[in-house]
Amino acid sequence: MVRNFKKYAMVYTHLWASYGASWRVRTSYCLQIIGRICKLIFLPIAVSLIIARLSVLDFEGAYQAVFLFVAFSLTLGVLSPVIKYVGMLGENEVYRDSIGSYFSRLITTDIEYFHSNLAGYLTTATRQYGDSGVQLVRSLRDRYANTVLSILFPLVVILWVDVVIGFIALALSLVQVVYVLWASYLISPFRTQSRELYKRNSGKIADVISNILAVRSVAKEDVYIQRVRQDASDEAELFTKRYHLQAKLIALREFITVVFFLILLWLVVERMHGGAIGITGAVLVMTYTTTILAGIYSLSDDFDEHDDLVDKMIPAFEILNRNNKITDPASPVPFEHVRGEIQIRDVSFTYHEKRNDLNVFNNFSLHIPQGQKLGVVGLSGAGKSTLTKILLRFNDVIAGGVLIDGIDIREVKQTDLRRQIAYVPQEPILFHTSIKENILLSRPDASDEDLHNALKAAHAMQFVERLPDGIDSIVGERGVKLSGGQKQRIAIARAVLQNSPIIILDEATSALDSQSEQIIKDSFAEILKGKTAIVVAHRLSTLSDMDRIIVIEDGKLIEDGTHESLLEKNGIYAAMWKRQLRHEGE
Ligand SMILES: Nc1ncnc2c1ncn2[C@@H]1O[C@H](COP(=O)(O)OP(=O)(O)OP(=O)(O)O)[C@@H](O)[C@H]1O
Ligand SMILES: [Mg+2]
Repeated sequence: MVRNFKKYAMVYTHLWASYGASWRVRTSYCLQIIGRICKLIFLPIAVSLIIARLSVLDFEGAYQAVFLFVAFSLTLGVLSPVIKYVGMLGENEVYRDSIGSYFSRLITTDIEYFHSNLAGYLTTATRQYGDSGVQLVRSLRDRYANTVLSILFPLVVILWVDVVIGFIALALSLVQVVYVLWASYLISPFRTQSRELYKRNSGKIADVISNILAVRSVAKEDVYIQRVRQDASDEAELFTKRYHLQAKLIALREFITVVFFLILLWLVVERMHGGAIGITGAVLVMTYTTTILAGIYSLSDDFDEHDDLVDKMIPAFEILNRNNKITDPASPVPFEHVRGEIQIRDVSFTYHEKRNDLNVFNNFSLHIPQGQKLGVVGLSGAGKSTLTKILLRFNDVIAGGVLIDGIDIREVKQTDLRRQIAYVPQEPILFHTSIKENILLSRPDASDEDLHNALKAAHAMQFVERLPDGIDSIVGERGVKLSGGQKQRIAIARAVLQNSPIIILDEATSALDSQSEQIIKDSFAEILKGKTAIVVAHRLSTLSDMDRIIVIEDGKLIEDGTHESLLEKNGIYAAMWKRQLRHEGE
């Protein structure tokens, strides 16, 4: 129970701060509630008035009461959509804002979080947060509030007409309400499990879709079809279990309701027989008893739906309440137009906080003077990409520090830091938009001339011009419509356009044929001109013109020098170089 209330408190505090702040939403709530109370006061009174008039054969009075009844119903009928329209305007406004601010939280969440959660799940959580939130606010006003009022208000009137019947009705209603809450509590674990299954399964489906090529290439479609069937059947099975429990609870509720109704009807007859109430009072009590019963019926269904909606919002709070590990400092140091001197001082780093034996780096130090072109080589898994991620502060070091122009990167805003570093990751990341948009990502306001220069520098112009829609060609999800080398050239063009004082290329030319790579390498002089550059490459020929080359092994810097000096040293780099020359010769 306590867990349930904590959930409600979390969701409602949030909804109050967002939707509750809109005057349109608040106005629509007030008007709707006033309208409902008027209806609750007026309609039963009109009915009992008509019956009272008819019982003394006063037809004139009965007609007047009917007329009043119709006029009132019509007024409410016309006003209701107007009220909902006003509310809808406010809700739409808040819906847009809340999705926006939720998304801004999501998009700035630690990169590690995205590595640990499936994209399909995060997409579902985002959609459900927005949809269920607005649905909850609407249902609360249009239905749940009505349900609660149609129980509470009649109770007050019955108490006023006859205290004895009133207290009995109050006690019976309380029994029903407690029952509904208890029933919902019993269903709650099923709801949580459903949510977990839904989250897991939507994540799995999206994972299959994004890896469709792997699935199809190993001809294992049937395995995945079977898995999705199995997942759907798990969901259906859970729903059946939930339905069994729900059916039993509904049957018991029906029984309690009939008893409730019987007791009240019997009491009304009893009290009228004893002269405690007259015909008008009796009709009023009976009409209101029916209203309470209808309310209690809806209460159970409403509660069920309400808890489903609340539950659908819960995954979003993982993001909203999450404390990021990588945060901006309270008073960030200004960080613009940096020179680009990089100092990595005694850095230790791990991806697994609880396992210090799995550190990627231990006391790693490196000084890269401003404007130096640094080549980084090393075996797979040595820590080259990790080093670049530390520089971009996608991950924080556990000891030591990284300084750019003498400023610790933890003292500046992450966006300021990353604006100073053009980064081409090991896997080129492209959006499902045009080539133009993909390149402009780093500088949306760039001129056409800059765009073309960037394309030329990355040697992408030739192939882009040959595409049917040229620079406006759509590249497909993650760039699937381009070849590996073409994707890399687009990613390089994006980095060139960013024109930042520091540039990091992590295996940025690995997918290029050696001829294209040679051409890009020749243009490195232009691309890297005046910048501090870190170029990671497995193909050593890419790096032979660099000012300096370092070799990393198991997170340790084991060789450091120019291409020539390292060859002279005849160490690991020289051995790698000879091996690659042999391969190329073969
Ligand atoms: N997000 C992550 N979570 C956990 N471990 C990681 C993560 N990314 C990398 N690692 C681990 O850190 C170590 C260094 O990886 P890194 O990607 O830096 O290697 P690399 O030198 O770039 O290799 P490659 O040449 O294959 O690109 C590896 O053991 C890798 O498994
Ligand atoms: Mg790597």
